[in-house]
Order: sequence, then structure tokens, then C-alpha cells
Amino acid sequence: MTPVSRHPPSRRIGIIGLGMHVPPKVLTNSDLEKIVDTNDEWIQSRTGIRERRVVEPGTTTSDIACLAAHDALKAAQLDPRDLDLLIVATATPDMLFPSTSCLVQHRLGASAAVCFDLSAACSGSVFAMVTAQQYLLTGRYRNALIIGAEVLSSFIDWTDRSTCVLFGDGAGACVMAPVKRGGILATDMGSDGSAASLLYMPGGGSKHPPSHRSVDQRMHFLRMNGGEVFKVAVRRMADSAKRVVKQATLKPEHVECFIPHQANIRIIEAVAKRAALPLEKVYMNLQRYGNTSAASNLIALYEAVQEGVVTRGDHVVMVAFGAGLTWGSLLLQW
Ligand code: ACO
Repeated sequence: MTPVSRHPPSRRIGIIGLGMHVPPKVLTNSDLEKIVDTNDEWIQSRTGIRERRVVEPGTTTSDIACLAAHDALKAAQLDPRDLDLLIVATATPDMLFPSTSCLVQHRLGASAAVCFDLSAACSGSVFAMVTAQQYLLTGRYRNALIIGAEVLSSFIDWTDRSTCVLFGDGAGACVMAPVKRGGILATDMGSDGSAASLLYMPGGGSKHPPSHRSVDQRMHFLRMNGGEVFKVAVRRMADSAKRVVKQATLKPEHVECFIPHQANIRIIEAVAKRAALPLEKVYMNLQRYGNTSAASNLIALYEAVQEGVVTRGDHVVMVAFGAGLTWGSLLLQW
């Protein structure tokens, strides 16, 4: 049965519970030196990444999504049976169909929830939060569980040193609902399909279904033009962050914490400079996890809250950028 809101819409939608999970297995830069021709100094100076987490073979995106979801539901004190909407943002679903969200729903016992996946690559969790916010603002649903989860290690070419050093596995989750104070004050999203070829995985879809040829040509792995992605990411994220600050009628100095997509320290530094957000207000944990794509903003928010970097009343800007191309921001008061 489709859940129908029993509550009138509130003017503000916020986060009422956060969760995360990263697999225990750590892959350091020194470990990578044994796999490809790279070194710790190159990786740290170009990206800021020291280590990342990777799942054991057989562990799926839905597995780690469920673990993050349990934490978020517990923090929100929400029984999974009372969940109305469940969105999983991922570029690495368990399979093309059914959606990973349906697999997660079943395991959580969230039988009343409407479920779908959202494909916006690294912008996925921000896109999913803005999408859920719209459903919650109309009063169509009372609450939503957003999960950003990725097992990128299954889609990375471990012989390609220009990409394999950048990514990691992980999941972040949040429960959203109407709130009496704080909540989301402004949002911004954008897309540019003309630059799709900058970051893509050619194989496995209808264009290049799996075949001996597609496997021989390594089409089932991520491909990226790193230099171009870098430039566009800086411009798009900075401009998007500036827009949400303006939309909320605030100034950069009113933002207490900036939670960018955790791709690369140099991208983040350039975004902060262009958006006039001082670096000391920028939260970063990419040194420990690398780029976890759709999971990155939620994992960073979770840890920023746990560490007391984000406290009640703070204005937080989350900004993301990913394949598509896609970008988006939201400004929320914690
Ligand atoms: N170890 C050692 N050397 C390497 C490695 C490596 N892992 N990777 C590449 N190199 C070499 C290259 O082969 C090249 O050698 P050459 O000069 O002999 O040809 C040299 O290092 C320089 O390569 P560049 O590509 O110019 O290095 P750059 O300074 O641009 O850094 C990087 C590359 C880190 C990928 C950068 O372009 C970047 O961060 N781009 C953004 C990519 C990104 O974050 N994507 C994530 C997805 S999108 C998003 O989340 C925002």
C-alpha cells in the first residue's frame, strides 16, 4: 500500500538521523605501490588521499547500504516499518535491476516504503536529498531514508594508475523529515550531458552489452579524463555553493561548515577559494577514505557531526560534483 502523509507539510525539511559504514579492510598508498607503478608521495601531493577502504570479494553495495541505514534509522528512532520513501543513490548497484533500494528495503523490513535508485554518480546523495525534500515538502510522504552507497572497487581498473588510486568503498545514510527548527534552507542542482565522456563506464549497458569484446577492451571499468574533470568540478561546485548561500540570503562568512564531495584536496581547496569559503571551515576526510562517490558527502557529514565540527544551529553547505556531468548543493541549518 502506498503510504500517504498524515501530517500537513512543514515549511522546513531536515535530517533527523545519520549513519555510515565503511568496510574494515584498509588499502594504503603503499599497498597500491605493489599493484601499479605509483607512490605515496605522488598520490598524497596530487590528491590528499592516504588510504581508502575496500570490501571483501562478495560484499555488495546493498550490504554496506543496509549497515549505514540501520545506524541512521536508529539515530532517528524510526521503525523501518514506518518508513515512507527510500532512495539509494549509487553508480555501482548490485545489478542493473531490480534497484538496490528494493534489495535494501527487503532486508530492512521497510515494507511500506516506496523505493527507487537515483543515478547521479558522485552528486547522488545531494540529488537524492533534494528529491526527498520535494516529496516531504508537499506532504506526500512523512519521512525518507537516503542512502549513498558505492562499491567502486568492483568497477575500477586496477591496472590503471590514473584512476585506481582515487576511489574507495563506503556508504552514508540519513533520515529526513519535517523539522520545527533548522533544516534545509536552499538547494541547487545542475547537469551537463554534453560532457558525459569525461567520466563514464562504457560497458554493461544497452550500448555495449557484455561480450568477449567488451571484456577484452576493459569496457566494464571506469574511464576518466582527470584534468578536464578537475577544471569543471572546481567551477561547477564553487558556483553552485555560491548560489545556495545567496539563495538563503546569507553570506559566505555565515557558513560554519562546508562539506564538499571528497574527491581531491586540490579540487576542494580551489572550490573553497573561488566560493570565498575559508579552508578552516572546510571538512575533509578524503585522506582516510578516498573518493566514495555518492557516499562521500553523507560520510563526511556524519563524521563532522560525530567530531563536534558541526553543532546545533550551524549553517552547513554540502556541495557535490560527478559524472553526467552533475552538480548540486544544499544549505542546511543543523
Ligand atoms: N602515480 C604516479 N604517476 C601517475 C599516477 C599515479 N597514480 N597517475 C598518473 N600519473 C602520471 C601520469 O601518467 C603523468 O605522467 P607523464 O607526465 O609522464 O605523462 C603524470 O603523472 C601527470 O599526470 P596528470 O594527469 O597531469 O596529473 P594531474 O596533476 O592532473 O593529477 C589527477 C591527476 C589526480 C587525476 C587530477 O587530474 C585530478 O584530481 N582530477 C580530478 C579527478 C577526480 O577527482 N575524479 C573523481 C571523479 S569526479 C569527482 O568526484 C569530482
